[in-house]
Amino acid sequence: MTITLAGFMGCGKSSIGGVLCRLLGCRFIDLDRWIEDSCGRSIREIFTECGEPEFRKMESDALREIFSSRTSDDTLVLSLGGGTLTAGGAVRLVRDNSVCIYLRAGISTLCDNLMAFPGDRPMMGGAQGAEDIAARVKSLMDKRSALYEEAADYILDIDGIDYEDVAAQIRDLVVR
Ligand code: S3P
Repeated sequence: MTITLAGFMGCGKSSIGGVLCRLLGCRFIDLDRWIEDSCGRSIREIFTECGEPEFRKMESDALREIFSSRTSDDTLVLSLGGGTLTAGGAVRLVRDNSVCIYLRAGISTLCDNLMAFPGDRPMMGGAQGAEDIAARVKSLMDKRSALYEEAADYILDIDGIDYEDVAAQIRDLVVR
């Protein structure tokens, strides 16, 4: 079984994925790190040198490669990037090959997390300060929320819930 974690930047996909793979005793892949390791460039460098469309293609290619290398009897937790599902065909790819969990967080949770852990996020367009960040999150979320919902087998509302508890909820959903 492959469990994919989907959701907006800053919702905690990678951290929750780390906890979940510990609970399940399984392997964990963070799609961004996988891409960086396989091409030897940072996400920022890929965006700068090749642009967003090329990065989306790399994400979809990486998904295909990871899914096709799976065996049926082991478990993998795979955290997606916040925009992975925006590439044509990516929703179908994820639906056909994984149990997808949408980690749904409200705008204010996302903004709080992005302010606390800004990271290097090209898609935030250099937004700084609470108002700018909220505006950017809202405008991207308007385009993306339907895709997250379409891909999801399960939607978890995670506002105010700590990562350990979110991961335990996912474990309870997928291990029956
Ligand atoms: C992106 C999200 C990032 C990373 C890239 C683009 C996006 O991943 O894939 O910077 O378009 O939302 P996280 O969601 O892990 O930050």
